[in-house]
Amino acid sequence: MSVKASAKLHAANKAAHEPAPSILEELAAKAAATAGMQPSMLDRRNLKQTLKRRMEITKHHNPETYLDLYRLSTEEQSNFLEGILNNETSFFRDTTVFAELARWTAAWFSINTRPMRILSAPCSTGEEPYSIAAMLEQAGIPLECFSIDALDLSASAIEQAQTAIYNGLSLRNIPQPEQSGFLERAPKGWRVKQHLRTHIQFRQANLLDPNALDPQSYDLICSRNLMIYQTTEARRCMAETLAGALVPGGRLVLGAADWGRDLDEFFRLEEPVNSFALRLREPEPEPSKPQKPQIRGPQKRTNSPQTTVNLSKKNVVKTALRTSEQLADVTALYRTALEAYLRAEEREAERLCRQTLYLEGDHLPSLELLAKIHRPHASGRMQLALHARLKRHRTAAERCA
Ligand SMILES: C[S@@+](CC[C@H](N)C(=O)[O-])C[C@H]1O[C@@H](n2cnc3c(N)ncnc32)[C@H](O)[C@@H]1O
Repeated sequence: MSVKASAKLHAANKAAHEPAPSILEELAAKAAATAGMQPSMLDRRNLKQTLKRRMEITKHHNPETYLDLYRLSTEEQSNFLEGILNNETSFFRDTTVFAELARWTAAWFSINTRPMRILSAPCSTGEEPYSIAAMLEQAGIPLECFSIDALDLSASAIEQAQTAIYNGLSLRNIPQPEQSGFLERAPKGWRVKQHLRTHIQFRQANLLDPNALDPQSYDLICSRNLMIYQTTEARRCMAETLAGALVPGGRLVLGAADWGRDLDEFFRLEEPVNSFALRLREPEPEPSKPQKPQIRGPQKRTNSPQTTVNLSKKNVVKTALRTSEQLADVTALYRTALEAYLRAEEREAERLCRQTLYLEGDHLPSLELLAKIHRPHASGRMQLALHARLKRHRTAAERCA
């Protein structure tokens, strides 16, 4: 056979095995519905790669016969879903949030005597709940004073969380793991020390399941970087479940780009207004006066709310202040961008996001906020460019993980 004919045959074979768009759409729609995701948020290349991998594993040589299996087998549907979930995370992801968490927990421990109940959902591969445990431990809070549950839809992520071995970009905020106090060398990376590993209860669950969480069982819930990908219905359903799982006075912490006005029904933004700390909406005797927006630039923090804490709580405050001192200009700028966004000053928010990205080109929260600002009105090209950039950073993160 001539080279030309062989190339033609190869191209024909490839085309025969290329999944038809309708097959990819069906797989994407089903998987996205299970997780509550917007199908448009699914990366097409990742979908194709997952399909290819699953066809190899299940020994199906063409997409149509694989689709038959997929339709019939709930196990295969779960396996496929595992391949497309975005498990990106890292220790102390977003230092601003951890500084706030340190402050809030310090205040909580200064007025409560019972143990604090914490939930990290979704916890992905475990970096978030371990970071919370390490933060509290380093602040001098004994383990018996808090419990942490953690859940995620991805069974493989939960398995990895329980193994607790990390390397690559998971550790990007911990330049010297040997000095972290909670990690120790392991043959394949760094492992969370045993006393913290056994302190966290991990389980696999779907936050769309209304029975995923027991009612009124948590003082603090971290649910970061999930709702941004969810459909309106899924966000509502999850918000209801999370609100039901908080005790009165409890706090919900979201990722910077997760928040939206649609959550107002269940939660109020914490003051000073920020989009990641929310408290349960409680019945109000009178309609509250509209708050005058506070215009604040990058600022110095005061420690006035912590003056009444006892000795061990002082450590929490110290940790919070140390972390805030470490916050680069980038974080302060990003925070100001967020505040502008919350005041509906989108142009200003966009300008500040761009400044942040000028200083730190792969600052994911800024990229995500920018994508959110542009989503309702951006041209297709602008959207595509932003998504390509977000995808590049996420792929780089996955590659290093
Ligand atoms: C980007 S990670 C966020 C992890 C962590 N909270 C953070 O901010 O670093 C999103 C996680 O949400 C999980 N997830 C997606 N849909 C879910 C659902 N319906 N219920 C529970 N977890 C879900 C994914 O498996 C993934 O691990």
